Amino acid sequence: MIPTGKVLPAASVESIRLAAEVIRNGGLVAFPTETVYGLGCDALNPEAVARVFEAKRRPSFDPLIVHIANEASLDELVQAISPAEYRLIERFWPGPLTLVLTKRAQVPDLVTAGLPTVAIRMPAHPVAQALIREAGVPIAAPSANPFGYVSPTCAQHVVDGLGDRVDLILDGGPCQIGVESTIVSMVGTWPELLRPGSITLAEILGVIGPVVQAAASRTVVVPGQLPRHYATRTPVTILAHQGARPIVHGHERAGLLAMSAPGHVDDRFCAIEVLSPSGDLREAARNLFAALRRLDALGLDRLYAEPCDERGLGLAIMDRLRRCASPNPLKALEPSLRSGSDGSR
Ligand code: TXA
Ligand code: MG
Repeated sequence: MIPTGKVLPAASVESIRLAAEVIRNGGLVAFPTETVYGLGCDALNPEAVARVFEAKRRPSFDPLIVHIANEASLDELVQAISPAEYRLIERFWPGPLTLVLTKRAQVPDLVTAGLPTVAIRMPAHPVAQALIREAGVPIAAPSANPFGYVSPTCAQHVVDGLGDRVDLILDGGPCQIGVESTIVSMVGTWPELLRPGSITLAEILGVIGPVVQAAASRTVVVPGQLPRHYATRTPVTILAHQGARPIVHGHERAGLLAMSAPGHVDDRFCAIEVLSPSGDLREAARNLFAALRRLDALGLDRLYAEPCDERGLGLAIMDRLRRCASPNPLKALEPSLRSGSDGSR
């Protein structure tokens, strides 16, 4: 029996063998991918999938991504694939692109939250590849964080958030990319970018032509598209531009998330995290979630975040920052909830 939450080095044949066994037996394994750490289970075992939802406290209406190691696995999971979808697969798999495709009956409804479609991704990370191959089953895996919180980009983040709710954690070091995969759906009227990621809109466009960006206001939303997601406990305000300095009020204890090295050291901030001293977007994306977590752990009153240009990878970075900074709807309800309870006394 494996002690819950045990962390094993990923670069070991024995660890992969053990982890694959846990997956085949219906258990949960956190594993590295090139984007973020995933919380994996056998995608075709509804009980195991239910455990993932429970561990993350994830609402059951939020579908999971199914991870595969080779194209042959598509046959059992999805129906016909269009030539344009194939072009995306050929160009970007294995890699950080998730494709939403029409599912086959044997994909459990719990995985897809009852949708007729399933999101599929073939990760490039050698540990993810080895785990899926060794397990011999497709692996359903959301990011390995409690629902709504900042995604994990190293094994310690998984331990911090879900340590006692995971059977095994494969430690493969920090993730190379640091933001979740780009999600594209071509099952509707227009090809749609459901989530920006490190494969950019321009790259997708170059392969399949015009793509619609999913509007935050659309009526059917999945939680990765909820206005508030990837959120810190500390409220976040996005500054008007890089180098803008906020008015830090009175006794407010504030932190700064800077895109690049600030021009001067600013003593109004209790803490400053620099995402990339040279302003490199790849480095910034790689550091984003770990920096947010470090600032959040300080228990400050507010975090101020510098924006970046919404071009290329900048689109994904700003998407995550905006969702993180979006007001907490439950907080907004608090005064009325309080007055409601007062009134009933
Ligand atoms: O990079 C990634 O994609 C990481 C790693 C672990 O692979 N996974 C990840 O999973 O970010 P998760 O569950 O945190 O985000 C998956 C997103 C959610 O927003 C979910 O709603 C959406 O994919 N999704 C899943 N199935 C879908 C479907 N059939 N149609 C539309 N969106 C879907
Ligand atoms: Mg997630």
